[in-house]
Amino acid sequence: MGLVIEAQNLTHNYPDGSTAIRDVTLSIEDGEQVAVIGANGSGKSTLQLVLGGLIAPSAGTVRYFEETENAEAVRDRVGVLLQDPNDYLFNTTIREDIEYGPAQLGIPQQAATQRVEELATDLCLHDLLDRPPFRLSGGEKQRAAIASVLAFEPEVLLLDEPFGAVDAHYRERIRKLVTNHKGTVVLFTPSLEHIPELAKRVILIGKDGSTVADGTVRDILTNKSLLAENGLRPPAMVQLFEGILDQGELPLTIEDARQYLLNERE
Ligand SMILES: Nc1ncnc2c1ncn2[C@@H]1O[C@H](COP(=O)(O)OP(=O)(O)OP(=O)(O)O)[C@@H](O)[C@H]1O
Ligand SMILES: [Mg+2]
Repeated sequence: MGLVIEAQNLTHNYPDGSTAIRDVTLSIEDGEQVAVIGANGSGKSTLQLVLGGLIAPSAGTVRYFEETENAEAVRDRVGVLLQDPNDYLFNTTIREDIEYGPAQLGIPQQAATQRVEELATDLCLHDLLDRPPFRLSGGEKQRAAIASVLAFEPEVLLLDEPFGAVDAHYRERIRKLVTNHKGTVVLFTPSLEHIPELAKRVILIGKDGSTVADGTVRDILTNKSLLAENGLRPPAMVQLFEGILDQGELPLTIEDARQYLLNERE
């Protein structure tokens, strides 16, 4: 155990003067699965960039693994999936893009090749590996970008909208890869539907870029008024069962709902 990320009073102003994140303080423990949610423009991606050390905050600090504030020193331990897959794919072929991280970190070629093979199988990328990135569809690019982050097996994954463009089949495959990840996962997303399957804790960012709530998935995703005040709605399953269920816990997932209905029938 231990803290993998400790952010203290982070504020970030873009050069045009707009404040994207405002006085954010949070800690992430080793092995946690956390979703950072918020409406469009609330500052999730900016927070991810700051936590990942890709932009320096205007104020505040980020400490990694209880030992350093130098993000460069932990570059091989923190994997950052940016919202736009085009930011990753810049080599001549997708294979080179996926091998780029391991190569930069000095992982031996044989181990890197094996890792690329495994990820290509998991994400059905084999037919795409020798293509240039611009010849991929949006969902294919997203799968390749995820592979390029997972390729160097970082302990901490900071994933911005990993499901944005992928279809249900690949969403399930990515979900499995993420839930089987042995380290820490922080997911940044405005979509609440898949959070119960991927996270245990939720951090809600308000429209002004500050942290509004930090709690369990159930407490936050069933709090309709809190979500509404911050431009969000509960997952469909919660909305459906609200007002129908007069006792017990609102189902968060299809599986919860199925169990509830089966119990009712008995
Ligand atoms: N490069 C930039 N320069 C100036 N303002 C920016 C820049 N990038 C983002 N912003 C602004 O900062 C705020 C936070 O943006 P950010 O991308 O972090 O939001 P987000 O929560 O990730 O939104 P989304 O759900 O749409 O991905 C927004 O008001 C946005 O317009
Ligand atoms: Mg974003």
